Amino acid sequence: MEKFKYPDINPLRIEMSDECQVYKGLEGICVKESRICYIDGKGSRLYYRGYNIMDLVEHSKYEEVVYLLLFGELPSREELESFERKLASKRRLPDGLRGLIRSLPKDSDPMDFLRTTVSAMSLFDDGGDETEKGIGLIAKAPVMLAEFHRYRSGLEPLEPREELSQAGNFLYMMFGKVPEGSEERVMDRAFLLLADHGLCASTFASLVTASTLADIYASITTAIGTLAGPLHGGANLQVLKMLEEVGSPDRAESYVEGMLKSGKRIWGFGHRVYKNFDPRYRAFKRMAREMAELRGRMDLFETAEKVEEAALKRLAHKNIYPNVDFYSGLVYYFLGIPQDLAITMFAISRMAGWVAHILEYWEQNRLIRPKAKYVGELDKKYVPIEER
Ligand code: CMC
Repeated sequence: MEKFKYPDINPLRIEMSDECQVYKGLEGICVKESRICYIDGKGSRLYYRGYNIMDLVEHSKYEEVVYLLLFGELPSREELESFERKLASKRRLPDGLRGLIRSLPKDSDPMDFLRTTVSAMSLFDDGGDETEKGIGLIAKAPVMLAEFHRYRSGLEPLEPREELSQAGNFLYMMFGKVPEGSEERVMDRAFLLLADHGLCASTFASLVTASTLADIYASITTAIGTLAGPLHGGANLQVLKMLEEVGSPDRAESYVEGMLKSGKRIWGFGHRVYKNFDPRYRAFKRMAREMAELRGRMDLFETAEKVEEAALKRLAHKNIYPNVDFYSGLVYYFLGIPQDLAITMFAISRMAGWVAHILEYWEQNRLIRPKAKYVGELDKKYVPIEER
């Protein structure tokens, strides 16, 4: 048999990659075809599997929307009940994971905590295919967060309750009492509104990992790490800190002025895709107003509204409008959720979208491997270390 001959290496032919175009921030690049989420950035509309998010938030519950995202259709009553039972049955944390939680520093950053424990879930995996594991992640993430909250607060851990919804069980496990219907509904809507958002940075990052055929735990761990930054999920926490700094409605105007003059960004404003209001912002704002009235904290709501007005005056002409994070943190705060858990609330809601996109991507997997346009030098003369 003839011996295989490798192509010659031509020392004189240098292939520069300068023909490639750089798309900073990958703006406008499509990575896959998808049937999961559509964002109409100009028209201020968001769709999950073809359904307007405003219809879903009005008429559906979170579990229904998770089913929709994962399986493509709204469930029948029987399908929904069976899916709810499945989620509830997957909530219990393995003893090893509970032990790990108890060994972590009580002052861990909550996103570091979630990233670490989601990663560790692969070590306590109880089998099943990747869809089953994904459903396990959706079911367990809120439970892990509640367990962490109780552990760091010196409170006794609680067992999950199967008869409660995802939202109801989360609030129960956080605060030790079954929430009132109105609170559960607010939590449910907050989960639903953040369940997916197309190829945001964290979802894209999860696909990069998934595209190597690494498992779902590794892919979601990547997503959590990516969500943490203040330009992405971390913005809701920054908004809460910003409102603390502003202090009262009458200081909003000068605060915004000062921030923009010194070249800083207004948190909870702007979006890569929306060049109009983020529809989720409207839903969160309505809930924040209702909760503020209920809690007697209209001062805080009005401070936020004054910051919003002042920022809009200065930024709307650049198509920069409030995004989902402007009021979401306030809603969590009014539910009694500690401020530093704001980003993790985003993460446990988005778990559904991450899982749905990873499973969809695997149906037609191809390694994600872009390249950088090389603008450095080539063929430099090598200088031995003694002569440098
Ligand atoms: N405040 C002030 N100026 C802003 C803001 C803002 N929040 N957002 C964008 N700009 C300006 C920016 O300074 C730049 O101005 P210029 O052209 O004069 O230099 C211009 O708008 C374009 O900015 P960009 O960073 O190139 O735009 P982008 O599409 O990459 O940014 C963004 C999107 C979300 C990173 C940005 O709007 C931002 O930093 N917002 C604040 C953080 C935030 O609220 N993030 C949550 C996003 S929504 C939830 C999520 O997806 O996690």
